[in-house]
Amino acid sequence: MRTDKNPIILSTEEGYDRWSEIYDTNHNPLTRLDQLVFFNHFPTTLSDSHVGDLGCGTGRVSNMLAAKGALVTGIDGSQGMLNKARERSPETITYQHHNFASPLPCDDQTFDHVVSCLVLEHIEDLQTFFSEANRVCKPGGMIYLTGMHPGMMLKGNEANFTDPVTGDEVRPKGYAHEISDFVNAIQNSGLKLVEMHEYNGTAALAKDFPKANKYLDWPMLVCFICRANP
Ligand SMILES: C[S@@+](CC[C@H](N)C(=O)[O-])C[C@H]1O[C@@H](n2cnc3c(N)ncnc32)[C@H](O)[C@@H]1O
Repeated sequence: MRTDKNPIILSTEEGYDRWSEIYDTNHNPLTRLDQLVFFNHFPTTLSDSHVGDLGCGTGRVSNMLAAKGALVTGIDGSQGMLNKARERSPETITYQHHNFASPLPCDDQTFDHVVSCLVLEHIEDLQTFFSEANRVCKPGGMIYLTGMHPGMMLKGNEANFTDPVTGDEVRPKGYAHEISDFVNAIQNSGLKLVEMHEYNGTAALAKDFPKANKYLDWPMLVCFICRANP
């Protein structure tokens, strides 16, 4: 068995294909935190808005947006995650398979808003990713980005799951970025950074997820709110 001292590191795509089998039952504190704060920042009235969800995974955020009236396109590099997303989503959500190493398969200014939740830690070239988000969003649209806070990595944490069959710890490949890497890449991508938030672990979170005890009053989630083509 590979433990957290000796994990199996897979490509992001292969890692999430494997994780997809249990992703929706394998609840984790970071996803809960992301869920709790999302609508503190993102509009709740989205009727007729077209929203792109970059790294949509199994459709957690795409479904939240669709429930608020948005027309959603979810894009992800893991076919396994997309298969699960399609199972849980209404037909109004469109899903596309694509790896962000290449330009997005979307025309300029396709979306009113773009979101990308808990994906940043898997992006090697942040500036290209943000420039593409900017390109496909209409001028003035909101770009909402969240990721694992670099502070979690200082405690040795990376996106990971335990394979229920083998007991191995598996990590889809990630990249350690500093907060300044995010800020500089945003500034150089053409986006305008409007707000940034950092969310710490709390006792309430640790009550539901004992492993979050490690992160009491410690940053877990980073959130960037930007405007496209300002
Ligand atoms: C932690 S999951 C988050 C899923 C969803 N956004 C959520 O918050 O529930 C990260 C997702 O990003 C996708 N992803 C990571 N790097 C990617 C890349 N380079 N190209 C396409 N998708 C990628 C993974 O396949 C995975 O589904």
